[in-house]
Amino acid sequence: MPLAQPTAKPASAEPFPCMMVRRDEQTDRRTQATCAVESIHTGDLPPGEVLIATEWSSLNYKDALACQAHPGVVRKLPHVPGIDCAGTVLASESPQFTAGQSVLVTGYDLGSGRWGGWSAQVRVPAAWVVPIPAGLTAETAMLYGTAGFTAAQSVHRLRQHGVTPDHGDVVVTGATGGVGCLAVAILAKLGYQVTAVTGKPERATLLEELGAARILDRDAVHDTSGKTLLPARWAGAVDTVGGNTLATLLRATQHRGCVTACGLVAGDQLPLTVYPFILRGVTLSGIDSAQCPPASRLQIWQHLAGDWKPDGLQALAQKVALPEVLDKVQAMLAGQTWGRILVRPVA
Ligand SMILES: NC(=O)c1ccc[n+]([C@@H]2O[C@H](COP(=O)([O-])OP(=O)(O)OC[C@H]3O[C@@H](n4cnc5c(N)ncnc54)[C@H](OP(=O)(O)O)[C@@H]3O)[C@@H](O)[C@H]2O)c1
Repeated sequence: MPLAQPTAKPASAEPFPCMMVRRDEQTDRRTQATCAVESIHTGDLPPGEVLIATEWSSLNYKDALACQAHPGVVRKLPHVPGIDCAGTVLASESPQFTAGQSVLVTGYDLGSGRWGGWSAQVRVPAAWVVPIPAGLTAETAMLYGTAGFTAAQSVHRLRQHGVTPDHGDVVVTGATGGVGCLAVAILAKLGYQVTAVTGKPERATLLEELGAARILDRDAVHDTSGKTLLPARWAGAVDTVGGNTLATLLRATQHRGCVTACGLVAGDQLPLTVYPFILRGVTLSGIDSAQCPPASRLQIWQHLAGDWKPDGLQALAQKVALPEVLDKVQAMLAGQTWGRILVRPVA
């Protein structure tokens, strides 16, 4: 099928900035990558139908791994991180999009198999592009970003499994992190009693302002008793950390409850027996936001722009320019960041 005519004037030949991850020249070891702001041109970008002028991207845990050229995230060097972006269409070879339209991209291969959003221009397949719904701007779309989209998918999954606010408390782990704090805020907005689990007691006020009814220390959901089942405390859980924390939550979930799992910052192993599943009918539901089907993707963004949008989102935002993001990457890998870090790839 012939491609539709481009709907915008050709992109300027001016160079623009991006964050580039390269193999360390001195050691030539992929695991010792260097990151630096570089100038590139539109012609350097990978092929795709939609060229976007990036207004905002963000820092997610996966981006922090990409800066280290982690082989689970980055397939080829050199690489531009940024698993999400929002901005304006500069040119489109797809009739679905027109120049000047506000759009966002999260997931798919952006920032992993393909150069990502830490770049003033991004080119992607049209199938990855979502029009920014009314109620959001490029900035608020990236205040959510991949983290908010993942949090919303997790909440959606709990609802699909019948976990409603009248069933009891819902717990969120990694609560000050990107996914965690947005899960707390969305669940509270929807009327759930939310327990926020954190390793940062100094951020308790922020979590309460987001709507957490109770704050628990991380250690409270790190059971090492060896018991196959624990007292059933939770109607549901949004786990963002994995490892023994996820196993503890599953053993402490009520009959027919649901636990969503999206992350691995606390470990990729799951030390568990089958008893929570066969005696309590607990569901463990995996979240793979990168491959969320388009219809569901649109539906979730509509919720985020409307009835699920928490008040006070701006309190979560820290904004950095490209050169400053590397300090935040180190802090994130050390588990010291909180909220959402928005990345501005243009001056
Ligand atoms: N599957 C998907 O679709 C998907 C999408 C997005 C993200 N993720 C994954 O979800 C996880 C969270 O992502 P994010 O972007 O929200 O990361 P983040 O902003 O770095 O948040 C992670 C949070 O986890 C807690 N934490 C850090 N180290 C920990 C440890 N050793 N043990 C227990 N808790 C620890 C911290 O919160 P507290 O200090 O408050 O405890 C931290 O803020 C990551 O593993 C990421 O790869 C998956």
